Amino acid sequence: MSQPQARYLKDYQSPDFTINHVDLDFQLDPNKTRVVAKSQIKRLRKDAKVVKLDGEDLSLVSVFVNENEVTHQVITREGGIDINVDLDEFELTIVTHIDPQNNSKLEGLYVSDGAYCTQCEAEGFRRITYFLDRPDVLSTYRVRIEAPQSFPYLLSNGNPLEQGSLDNDRHYALWHDPYPKPSYLFALVAGDFDLLQDEYQTKSGRKVDLQVFVDKGNLHKAEHAMTSLKKSMQWDEQRFNLEYDLDIYMIVAVDFFNMGAMENKGLNLFNTKYVLADKASATDNDFDGIESVIGHEYFHNWTGNRVTCRDWFQLSLKEGLTVFRDQEFSSDLGSRTVNRIAAVKAMRTVQFAEDAGPMAHPIRPESVIEMNNFYTVTVYNKGAEVIRMMHTLLGEAGFQQGMALYFERHDGQAVTCDDFVAAMSDANNFDFSQFKRWYSQAGTPIVRLQEAYDDKRQSYRLTLEQATPYTADGSAKLPFHIPVDMELLDRQGNSLVTEVLNFTQEKQQWTFEGIAEKPIVSLFREFSAPVKLDYQYSQDDLVHLLKHASNEFSRWDASQALVSSSILANVKRLSKGESCQSSPQLWEALQSVLQTQALDPAFIAELMTPPTFASLMDECEPVLVDELITARQYHIDTLAKQLATELDERYHACLQQTNLSGGEAVANRALKNTCLYYLGVLTDKQELVVNQYQQADNMTDSLAALHTANEHQLHQRQQLMIDFEQKWLQTPLVMDKWFTLQGKNPNKDMLASFDALLEHSAFALANPNRVYSLIGSFANANPKHFHKLDGSGYRFLTDLLIKLNDVNPQVAARLITPLIQWQRLDETRQQLMKAELKRLQSLPNLAKDLFEKVSKSLA
Ligand code: ARG
Ligand code: ZN
Repeated sequence: MSQPQARYLKDYQSPDFTINHVDLDFQLDPNKTRVVAKSQIKRLRKDAKVVKLDGEDLSLVSVFVNENEVTHQVITREGGIDINVDLDEFELTIVTHIDPQNNSKLEGLYVSDGAYCTQCEAEGFRRITYFLDRPDVLSTYRVRIEAPQSFPYLLSNGNPLEQGSLDNDRHYALWHDPYPKPSYLFALVAGDFDLLQDEYQTKSGRKVDLQVFVDKGNLHKAEHAMTSLKKSMQWDEQRFNLEYDLDIYMIVAVDFFNMGAMENKGLNLFNTKYVLADKASATDNDFDGIESVIGHEYFHNWTGNRVTCRDWFQLSLKEGLTVFRDQEFSSDLGSRTVNRIAAVKAMRTVQFAEDAGPMAHPIRPESVIEMNNFYTVTVYNKGAEVIRMMHTLLGEAGFQQGMALYFERHDGQAVTCDDFVAAMSDANNFDFSQFKRWYSQAGTPIVRLQEAYDDKRQSYRLTLEQATPYTADGSAKLPFHIPVDMELLDRQGNSLVTEVLNFTQEKQQWTFEGIAEKPIVSLFREFSAPVKLDYQYSQDDLVHLLKHASNEFSRWDASQALVSSSILANVKRLSKGESCQSSPQLWEALQSVLQTQALDPAFIAELMTPPTFASLMDECEPVLVDELITARQYHIDTLAKQLATELDERYHACLQQTNLSGGEAVANRALKNTCLYYLGVLTDKQELVVNQYQQADNMTDSLAALHTANEHQLHQRQQLMIDFEQKWLQTPLVMDKWFTLQGKNPNKDMLASFDALLEHSAFALANPNRVYSLIGSFANANPKHFHKLDGSGYRFLTDLLIKLNDVNPQVAARLITPLIQWQRLDETRQQLMKAELKRLQSLPNLAKDLFEKVSKSLA
């Protein structure tokens, strides 16, 4: 095989042919499934005489053009076949055989725990049949599935047409999807499941059947998913005026799934992780995750399916917008502040690092080697931030007018990000031309701030400067249009000014008159733009903002800045051979947070949670790994000691709250468990951890206790881990939590225990959830061992990636991220990491997925 090649946005060409309708016929068989695809093809470009079809890992049986078998007109090439035909319209019939049982990549048609299922986005349909596997070819589908009766449910997109029995204990089902769709939205499922049924009446009065299919014995764990689906349908009607369009909506949960879920028209496929939940086995976070992913996939029905992407460079058209929608859904249903904090953490820890690393790309990438590598935090989460900025600039009403125009213009089409922005712009008469740089320029802008206060004139002048560091993709860095949501506060904590500034130049000034004393400025309220603010607030000012900023997110932001700056100051001390120092002002501020009764307990929990290692890494250059670990731990230990009494009081107060329900109970648990985490540091409080573990009647509380025992290496840890393992050995999703704790285990001998874990009866390299839990948590959340100076952590990850390269390259490519971000580390570690990357690079059969990341990071 030749070296993988990049494809470029600038080379986009509309298709020569299109497929208006396709009839698919599946004879399911584990190793030899027969697929007959009968496509109605139409020529779009007069001079086109070759139909170039995509195909991968298929065995071709026969090709017919209008019922005539053709052989010498068919040319096989890498990545597909070419068929010579000089006709304006014809029927093309292709027969192929595929091997779902041995499809460990989990792309195309594969077998998950005995059930057949599919994953076609982005380019998996070509692993089912030869096709025009590109999103700008929209076809209606009629699908016939034939299988043994031992697979009672035979499902595909759209509406069921008929079903019946056949000889030899076989049966069939026929489906029709009337909405033209690209091949990536095709889905098929065959298996035996438990089925939860319900229905929904749309606002115009149509009845929709709702079905959630889960593994046998798990029916009770499907309730929350069903409730979430109904909430999603209602929310989309209320907030976006969008109604569901088919008579049936199906969700199937499968164990083997590379990602979270997939929005196939009328037949969503989900990772079990985002469907199955009950109080005993799922945490509050899991419940929220399910609600949000169910929402996300449902919202795709309009933003993704009814209006889809012209080409894969436009992925953010549907993903950025749909993440924005699912974030709004969660915020409208739960706490807006807590949701916003979670979204910002993802940006600051993962997305900023992506911008600073070798895979940096704009939300609309310009070149791609392996499309699966671009389902990134940049396309998804930064994409959502870009939509959110438009929302900030237009307001809710203007934004909704833009959405309405977008659907009016483009329903049933495959379009571009430019089309979306044009609708927003035209509906509001708003000039987004500079704003569009967010689509083409990668990188995290850095905003610097200067202030000048004039006593006599009582005026305050704010000067902002923006600069975006060079990124690995080399995209241009012209000034961005940055909405700066800001507030001026006086010394008493009163709000003087709130405003959204349009910051469009490299350097820009604003003057505010009638300001009686030097104010304190709060910038990027609600994280109004995905930028870094480079400004050293004094501790006093941060405490002031923590107490008085009228935006809750800004208060949290101030608390983080306060804690981070204290930790980073200690990193500096440690690097000079000095010891860490404690800051009384910090403890006072946190003490008062902990004692405030009026605040939402979930918000207090956020304010008390220490910044993650990953977010601190982003503020430290180069990253002094050992110092950072020590200084962060020092913060945790000292906070626990300084606030022992208050933590204990608050913990017990939370414990007493036994008759809360819903969001209040969740918030109470969040605060209780944050307190427990600190109390676990104190020798005389460790009893509380064990007690909570033993008495917990829900997974949130038992896992929090176990997490505390694990993080602080309590002597009871081992015993609790064994107890948990025995209790949950047969529940894979819960074992994932156990594997995650093992991956994060700070114990000095942890790496030695890894071989046994890889051999554990509940572990399987072929299952992405297991791999992400054990290996992902190690590589991303165990800095002490992953970054060990003898290189053993890097070597261990690489050994695994080599195995995964053969089994499931897409999963391997997702896990490699921390290794390719070596640029941020010290010289010694850089060398060690690069040596491992070179080891990967020299593999004779390195998959495209890893090839792209390895070669970019070594370039
Ligand atoms: N569209 C799916 C979702 O957001 C994700 C599909 C991921 N596919 C992939 N090949 N990485 O919700
Ligand atoms: Zn999506």
